[in-house]
Amino acid sequence: MAEDLIKLTGTKQEIYEGLIPQIKGLVEGESDQVANLANVCAALKETFSFFWVGFYLVKEDDLVLGPFQGPVACTRIRKGKGVCGTSWEKGETILVPDVEAFPGHIACSSLSKSEIVVPLVKDGKVIGVLDVDSDQLNDFDETDAKHLSTLCTWLSERL
Ligand code: SME
Repeated sequence: MAEDLIKLTGTKQEIYEGLIPQIKGLVEGESDQVANLANVCAALKETFSFFWVGFYLVKEDDLVLGPFQGPVACTRIRKGKGVCGTSWEKGETILVPDVEAFPGHIACSSLSKSEIVVPLVKDGKVIGVLDVDSDQLNDFDETDAKHLSTLCTWLSERL
């Protein structure tokens, strides 16, 4: 059974360092993909109060909406489209300080102002992305990129 997350304080770096072992603890005892992705979203959203946290998973020619926390979102994204489709195409983490300045950004909500998208890479192939949105401009930095990438690398091996 899942237990409540331990409340974390400190710098963003310290909070990630306290959170990621808790996420690993939640995921390690469960083999179901939906259950695990759903709990990762909940843990990130609850800890950081992000506006939207979710996964899109590669299904044939599209990224299809997977487990998420936050307002309703676009269900399908083509390769190369938006921030998510660009992260899929390039296999890279993309930091977007101002979504309006990102050509082709897909606005699922007008309240989303900045965004980070991290690919899930398994056996050298992108199998999905983690997308985190904020209602504040410039809310993500290299600390988020580093820890979310570490988390996604670890997670991809279990999907
Ligand atoms: N903004 C994303 C689309 C997904 S939503 O933000 C949840 C993009 O441009 O790919």
